[in-house]
Amino acid sequence: MVSYKELGLVNSRELFKKAMEGGYAIPAFNFNNMEQLQAIISACVETKSPVILQVSSGARKYANQTLLRYMAQGAVEFAKELGYPIPIVLHLDHGDSFELCKSCIEFGFSSVMIDGSHLPYDENVALTKKVVDYAHQFDVTVEGELGVLAGIEDDVKAEHHTYTDPAQVVDFVSRTGVDSLAISIGTSHGAYKFKPEQCTIDENGRLVPPPLRFDILKEVEKRIPGFPIVLHGASSVPQEYVDEINRYGGKLKDSIGVPEEQLREAAKSAVCKINIDSDGRLAMTAAVRRVLWTQPAEFDPRKYLGPARDELKKLYMHKTQNVLGSAGKA
Ligand code: 13P
Repeated sequence: MVSYKELGLVNSRELFKKAMEGGYAIPAFNFNNMEQLQAIISACVETKSPVILQVSSGARKYANQTLLRYMAQGAVEFAKELGYPIPIVLHLDHGDSFELCKSCIEFGFSSVMIDGSHLPYDENVALTKKVVDYAHQFDVTVEGELGVLAGIEDDVKAEHHTYTDPAQVVDFVSRTGVDSLAISIGTSHGAYKFKPEQCTIDENGRLVPPPLRFDILKEVEKRIPGFPIVLHGASSVPQEYVDEINRYGGKLKDSIGVPEEQLREAAKSAVCKINIDSDGRLAMTAAVRRVLWTQPAEFDPRKYLGPARDELKKLYMHKTQNVLGSAGKA
């Protein structure tokens, strides 16, 4: 058993408390390789933002759990070396079983999500409570989920949304003891969050998706005031990246994300954690495609992964400064 405290990591409790009071959200960025981690840490150090490093079970399989844990430990030292030791949480994204959560806790994670949202309500309560009871012995924080997001995130898939039912939140939170709650208000995983036929067209010819269900968020806040809420599926799918990917041989069609103004609005409410994965994938792919397309003789991975890392850092700095409001809060 390795305690996250020995690794210099923190759990999410204090960060969420401050985010709630300050009207901003903590970024939760997914990573599974070195360049992503370097970009996340250097962007958050430079903007003085706390950060949640997110590992999905897919990432765990891809990169190896031991390596990921040492990378997170390395990230703590890297931040210090860059001159500003920001608070770093190592979080399991979409844990699907008690065993997986337990194993992550034993490996040094400071926070886990148990995603029982696809289960019948009582089974979701029982599974979430089991994880909470285990995690809290080690002061590890737990995120639960009510309502189902559409879209694809590694192994997590759903065709349609099931919006969170605000009538269930008090019971869920009090029976499970979770530390934060992910809700479904119209965001979804992946780069195809809305269909063009759901959107209107603005004066620049851009597709504007339907607004998130802020009415559900408000109702949830009313029932569990001051309780940290999590927004998954919060990538904005910047059109510049989609255009660049397609310019250099890609084939992305109808990729539409959540407008940043809506995320800004959410961050001012009880939403304390905003999950962003797809935007990083797009930024990286755009940069790699640009180099490989314009310099076809290049074969040094540093020559395309370096620009990908630079693009990622720019994206993450933009998120902390202009979208989530977490810059300057570390
Ligand atoms: P995006 O696909 O919108 O980046 O969402 C990521 C996410 O919610 C990870 O859990």
